[in-house]
Amino acid sequence: MEAKNPKDSRTVMTDMVLPSETNPLNNLFGGELLARMDRAASIAARRHSRRITVTASVNHVAFNQAVPLGSVVTVEAAVSRAFKTSMEVYIDVWMEDRYNGKRTKANEAIYTFVAVDETGKPTEVPELEPETALEKERFAGALRRKQLSLVLAGKMKPNDATELKALFSNG
Ligand SMILES: CC(C)(COP(=O)(O)OP(=O)(O)OC[C@H]1O[C@@H](n2cnc3c(N)ncnc32)[C@H](O)[C@@H]1OP(=O)(O)O)[C@@H](O)C(=O)NCCC(=O)NCCS
Repeated sequence: MEAKNPKDSRTVMTDMVLPSETNPLNNLFGGELLARMDRAASIAARRHSRRITVTASVNHVAFNQAVPLGSVVTVEAAVSRAFKTSMEVYIDVWMEDRYNGKRTKANEAIYTFVAVDETGKPTEVPELEPETALEKERFAGALRRKQLSLVLAGKMKPNDATELKALFSNG
């Protein structure tokens, strides 16, 4: 399988925040943002693998900024690393200023998707070759995030999580 770059899977979804999608403070409801991120990330994983993809885990979500009613929100997703059958997808969420159009980073998240065949069995995906400095940084951190996710899910023994352990032992 031919290796791919993050730009091959880059998925951009722009939408407004409507009243039915807000919490009592008139800000975007967290679950709505999770769903938007899941959709964009799922498309990115599909573009990388050209397979059916399923969400295996949500590894990290940071709701750093509230997103007010009426905001224009852009969700950008791209595969940050591919393993054997799983892919880490990094998601950046941007808000657009109503008056000057300036974009500010609102939130970010990291999801893991697995490519499966028609019977739901995990199937291999192409490798990912990062190009930019940011893509290389995200690629480098992905193995320890995968190990952390597997340890938390009870699918890997902490002792086998060598990349993760190195993070603590090297200070
Ligand atoms: C995701 C799923 C396919 C994994 O199946 P599985 O039996 O654990 O398969 P495997 O053990 O072979 O793991 C497959 C890959 O997923 C990865 N994986 C599994 N669980 C993971 C987790 N919690 N975090 C990160 N990666 C995980 C494994 O490391 C492996 O990756 P690799 O092949 O790249 O090394 C299966 O659990 C599933 O179908 N879950 C439901 C998915 C779904 O419906 N999502 C929507 C929720 S509503």
